[in-house]
Amino acid sequence: MELEDINSITVLGAGNMGHGIAEVAALAGYDVNLRDIKEEFVQNGYDQIEWSLGKLAEKDQLSEAEADAALERITPLVDFEEAVSDADFVIEAVPEKMDIKKDVYSEMEEHAPDHAIFATNTSSLSITELSEVTNRPEQFCGMHFFNPPVRMQLVEVITGAHTDDSVLDVTEELAEEMGKTPVRVRKDSPGFIVNRVLVPLMNEAAWIVESGDATVEEVDSATKFDIGLPMGSFELADQVGIDVGYHVLEYMHEVLGDAYEPCPLLAEKVEEGNLGKKTGEGFYDYENGGVDVPT
Ligand code: 3HC
Repeated sequence: MELEDINSITVLGAGNMGHGIAEVAALAGYDVNLRDIKEEFVQNGYDQIEWSLGKLAEKDQLSEAEADAALERITPLVDFEEAVSDADFVIEAVPEKMDIKKDVYSEMEEHAPDHAIFATNTSSLSITELSEVTNRPEQFCGMHFFNPPVRMQLVEVITGAHTDDSVLDVTEELAEEMGKTPVRVRKDSPGFIVNRVLVPLMNEAAWIVESGDATVEEVDSATKFDIGLPMGSFELADQVGIDVGYHVLEYMHEVLGDAYEPCPLLAEKVEEGNLGKKTGEGFYDYENGGVDVPT
């Protein structure tokens, strides 16, 4: 498939990453189906896109007309078949669990056209293993965006053992068409490149607090102002979703060994359901802290 053959993009999962990817695709001029399992999830994703486009317009990063046109290109859907039956390119951004993703791919191959490329936004899971549940492992790759997709420049384009080079080429071209900078990841290993570095950093920050050596605020001041990260480690965990980082660590621990053992502090937050900005509370309180994100 050539880039010109891609007209319709489906994004599966309307959470933090899914709705952000749908927004980026619509801004690049594509017709986008945004699908989630419940009406309220899709609506929430759609509302967040509307909010984000409004912010970009408010800051003169695009005109009101461009914001409206991008929103019009997005169709929120719950019906799976309707969402994928006309897709040229499907980007899956459902929860970071191997079983959930495999179920989605089993259903997807039944309804998506034969020519459609499947790309997963997985943060860490094996591209090869996911591709093998489909009838088109050679048309399958990783397309990993970063949070928030509309602001972050990088996209990792990851090969699986069966991926055809032409699929990686067109996926990179698509990322560029979306205004992003793709980096090809040639080895399908847990966490790929960025999360292999970033998620252990978040974990180590949590271990420092768990051991009583420093507070959340002290670690964040050090990582933000001294090491020079754009956000402190805990602020970043709240932005990404503590559950997302935790699931990545669980997988890295399972495959790569004890160095990646998730800190119990992260497990506690996940059990409490305090997952960061998206739930209003994580390591910081966003409901009472005047943080400018929609709830
Ligand atoms: N759409 C539109 N506007 C948004 C937005 C969005 N999605 N998210 C935030 N904003 C707005 C805020 O509301 C705020 O608006 P305000 O000024 O009216 O209050 C404004 O953007 C903040 O923008 P600034 O340019 O002033 O802020 P920053 O310069 O601090 O940039 C940032 C924000 C780009 C998020 C920056 O802090 C950053 O780069 N943080 C690091 C993020 C990062 O590393 N992400 C990757 C995480 S790893 C990952 O995602 C992988 C996964 O697999 C785990």
